[in-house]
Amino acid sequence: MVVTSATYMEEQPMLSVRNLNKRYGQGCKHCETPEMLPVNSNRCSHCGSVWACIDVGMDLYKGEIIGIVGESGSGKSSLVKSLYFDEEIASGTATISDYKGGEADIFSVSAQQKRYIRNYLMGMVYQNPWMGLKMSFSSGGNIAEKLIAAGTYHVGNIRDRASELLNHVEIPISRMDELPENFSGGMQQRVQISKALANNPPVLLLDEVTTGLDLSVQARVLDLIRKIQREFGVGMIVVSHDLGVIRMLADRTMVMRYGRVVEQGLTDQILEDPGHAYTQQLVHSLL
Ligand SMILES: Nc1ncnc2c1ncn2[C@@H]1O[C@H](COP(=O)(O)OP(=O)(O)O)[C@@H](O)[C@H]1O
Ligand SMILES: [Mg+2]
Ligand SMILES: [Zn+2]
Repeated sequence: MVVTSATYMEEQPMLSVRNLNKRYGQGCKHCETPEMLPVNSNRCSHCGSVWACIDVGMDLYKGEIIGIVGESGSGKSSLVKSLYFDEEIASGTATISDYKGGEADIFSVSAQQKRYIRNYLMGMVYQNPWMGLKMSFSSGGNIAEKLIAAGTYHVGNIRDRASELLNHVEIPISRMDELPENFSGGMQQRVQISKALANNPPVLLLDEVTTGLDLSVQARVLDLIRKIQREFGVGMIVVSHDLGVIRMLADRTMVMRYGRVVEQGLTDQILEDPGHAYTQQLVHSLL
């Protein structure tokens, strides 16, 4: 299934994903393909393998935010982790317009090329800051690590860029040399965001970045994400189980259930007139 919208059609998408399938576990003769499982489940009752993403497709356009919503276990994190090469996929393709003119499938390139894509073309912000930050490095050091991976070695340049980035995410420069371990949850997420933006990637992946934060802190991080979208024109995939977050951020939304995209379209339309029973349930739980 592919998310497309007439207004975007003339442009080339920054990121295109087609038929992405992700399985955890070895599989068995009862679950060789996701179609062999019952529709209301994605776990094989024989061997316990899980098809976490089934035939997922999307087109992300410049400066756009696509929201991915669905209950816990619906495959949202698996999707973004697969795109960031944290997880191996079973099958599928993806292209990035800034990579080889959008001609190369990023899943079939070498490990070295995948590192390049992670360093220059994609940024990831994890739900758990411990996944995205080295807590034994200062916040400036975390940003430096990302800059060095992309070939910036001059200490002065690194400090300048780190200051600039921390400034963008509203962290006082005076705290650059502190360990993020000692920061509040909201600040840790803002350091993660600044690190993810270090090399100006065209695509940013954000997985439940405000889940677990106090509401006021959450609002501040959401405001920051919107500001970054406006100022940098980054395309973003924002994952959340919370439709309130999706409503605030996403231009278009995909609803996932049991690894499949069950509904997609403009966020306003989906919220106003959910077509799928499952989406109706999600929307009603928001009211
Ligand atoms: N490392 C893993 N090993 C085995 N199963 C996993 C692993 N990670 C996720 N899963 C399973 O894949 C499915 C999708 O999980 P996930 O992508 O984390 O969903 P979501 O982010 O929507 O909560 C769930 O059934 C989950 O139990
Ligand atoms: Mg998740
Ligand atoms: Zn099986």
